[in-house]
Amino acid sequence: MAQSIVTSPDNIKRIKTYIKGFDEHIQGGIPEGHIVLVHGSAGTMKSSLCFSILYNEALLNKKTGLYISLEQSFQSIVKNMVNMGFDMKKVNLVYIEDLANFSSTIKKVKEGEGNLVVVDIGSIRKLVKDVKVSENRSWLNVVKNIALKTKKACNFDLMTFDSLSALYTLSTFENPRMELFYFFEYLRDLNITSYLISEENMSSTENIYDSEAFLSDGIIILRLTPFRRNIVREIKVDKMRATKCNNDVFSFEYRNGAFHALYGGQNPLL
Ligand SMILES: Nc1ncnc2c1ncn2[C@@H]1O[C@H](COP(=O)(O)OP(=O)(O)O)[C@@H](O)[C@H]1O
Ligand SMILES: [Mg+2]
Repeated sequence: MAQSIVTSPDNIKRIKTYIKGFDEHIQGGIPEGHIVLVHGSAGTMKSSLCFSILYNEALLNKKTGLYISLEQSFQSIVKNMVNMGFDMKKVNLVYIEDLANFSSTIKKVKEGEGNLVVVDIGSIRKLVKDVKVSENRSWLNVVKNIALKTKKACNFDLMTFDSLSALYTLSTFENPRMELFYFFEYLRDLNITSYLISEENMSSTENIYDSEAFLSDGIIILRLTPFRRNIVREIKVDKMRATKCNNDVFSFEYRNGAFHALYGGQNPLL
């Protein structure tokens, strides 16, 4: 798909992270069309943050987001978000649990309304476990096909893929770097903004992080840091192409129905 060339910084459209106190440090948000890595260990709120971005874009900007979950079930994701105060009735939530019904289910997406399509690959995997697709790299093809079919059915804008790391454990790649390169190119051709979740501390994925990082347009790191007898959540941007950003470490928390990033300007977090 041909993309027009940006002629002025003002032309760069940006998508907010909806983290209060953070967007203003990255020129207002993540440039549209970026492939952003959201990297962190378990429990750092990667899934919650990415879901929140898609939800808010649907709610406030009538965008359509596609959330592909490889491990966490639809029920579990929704339970987590509802517990955080998200009102699922405010967006058109479309749930795909069976690829056989994909074409009929995707029709529930309403043009001109805010939609959030959740594809639960976990339940799809259960349905197809006898087919033995998981023994080769076809899960990557399944994911690509879902994105392509969704693009054909409705013009979706944003995608979260949760997670790259789960994909590596499901599939054996002969040449992971090459596969990843083509996957990223594939996403670029779809003309969407992608949030790819990358799990830290997974032994099978340690070496591939360098490739993920090198290929992506942006990297947001989330972490849990012991502080005295507490643990503090932190967020920082390691890379954001086409963006002048503050790369310092911000503390990160979810309270009163919103994510917040806090930065003192001198000595963060102490
Ligand atoms: N209402 C809430 N307020 C603050 N934090 C919450 C709330 N509900 C869940 N959490 C935190 O979110 C974490 C899970 O977030 P999740 O997005 O699943 O993390 P990840 O995807 O990085 O593993 C939980 O460990 C919990 O600490
Ligand atoms: Mg998660």
